[in-house]
Amino acid sequence: MLPLSPIHTLAGRLAVPGDKSISHRYVLLGALAQGRTALQHLSPGADVAASLGCVQALGATVDHVAPGQLQITGWGAAGPSSPTAPLDCMNSGTTMRILMGMLARYPISATFVGDASLSGRPMGRVITPLTQMGARIEAVNGRAPVTLAGGDLQAIDWTTPVASAQIKSAVLFAGLGAAGTTRVSEPAPTRDHTERAFPLFGLRCEVDGLSISVDGGQMATAPAHPLRVPGDPSSAAVWASAAAALPGARVQLTGVALNPRRLGFVAALRRMGARIEIVEDMVLGGEPVGTLTISYDTCKDTTINADEVPGLIDELPVLAACAAFGRRLEVRGAEELRVKESDRITALVTGLRQLGVSAEEYPDGFLIDGHAGRPTGGRADAVHDHRLVMAFTLIALGASGDTQIESAESVAVSYPAFLSDLRSLTR
Ligand code: S3P
Repeated sequence: MLPLSPIHTLAGRLAVPGDKSISHRYVLLGALAQGRTALQHLSPGADVAASLGCVQALGATVDHVAPGQLQITGWGAAGPSSPTAPLDCMNSGTTMRILMGMLARYPISATFVGDASLSGRPMGRVITPLTQMGARIEAVNGRAPVTLAGGDLQAIDWTTPVASAQIKSAVLFAGLGAAGTTRVSEPAPTRDHTERAFPLFGLRCEVDGLSISVDGGQMATAPAHPLRVPGDPSSAAVWASAAAALPGARVQLTGVALNPRRLGFVAALRRMGARIEIVEDMVLGGEPVGTLTISYDTCKDTTINADEVPGLIDELPVLAACAAFGRRLEVRGAEELRVKESDRITALVTGLRQLGVSAEEYPDGFLIDGHAGRPTGGRADAVHDHRLVMAFTLIALGASGDTQIESAESVAVSYPAFLSDLRSLTR
């Protein structure tokens, strides 16, 4: 149980931890590649540790050099070895889905397991295309534990039924080892870190609007220089949303990945009245990187619709928390939230209500009425979901009374230093 008291305001400068999505991709590609990949500023979260554990179980070597800095020696042309125990993906959907795609081409058998949350999440969305490509996969009602027997794959032309970077990536990773050219078309643009990472490992990939193609038979090679992972925009979004919520706040976030497909929260916060400046200072590994400066300004109501959702899907909980301070926020077309680390519509609305926020659930979203009065604080259950811990913390910072958050330790899934970073910004 995490006890929190209201603060005066938020101010200061912070470098957020390495991006979780990009870290997963570099770890998986490092394991696939011929040679040794040096990685810096890797996400310190438990999710990326799950990817590291899995690739080690498959025969890649991981040498830790310093915190966030490591070297991966991939299996390259030799291929992975059959794991002697189930691959534990813990809480990480990205690990399970993309790794299934990556392993599907090899003549090995592997069972994928996860924690209670991951064991309830849909895997059929990845199993279906991989099965069509030729992998044999068994699951219980499309859920983990999943057992995969890989082998020769045929390329496919796959249209993903939901906008999901994990599905897209799983099929593209499988396509690297399939006979022919695999094409994935998505219904809406999702994060494109896989497409940006492939060329760093010598892999060709062609992007044509919402369709991405890879040729089979490609061998990944380790990059000649270390890859530095830029800061996680989803972690930055927590402080940005808090600064937008708390009068007098001003925070500066450095080294943040500025990939446009991750910055939907900036547009939403601006519509909600925040002042946000963005300065791009470099490109790291094909990803633009820079500084975000966020100041509290005014409070405005807004709506987030389906077309915007893929660009801010992980940020919806903190945007909801920000809205609780003087804005009305309606979110529609976000039914994917129900199959995240928790049912994030029900769990978010339930927790916000426990903290004195006026919130209503829709089948595909929610409504927050921040005009109904200041949140009171109270006791809320984050149901072991890291994004909910951060959203409820934001409420606690501006509430009229004290707050306790249950299952707050799950914040370590993406942001282990969350509380110490909070203390460094607290005024
Ligand atoms: C991720 C994609 C998104 C996101 C998740 C990370 C990724 O999931 O919610 O936190 O790294 O590709 P979906 O692909 O299921 O939308």
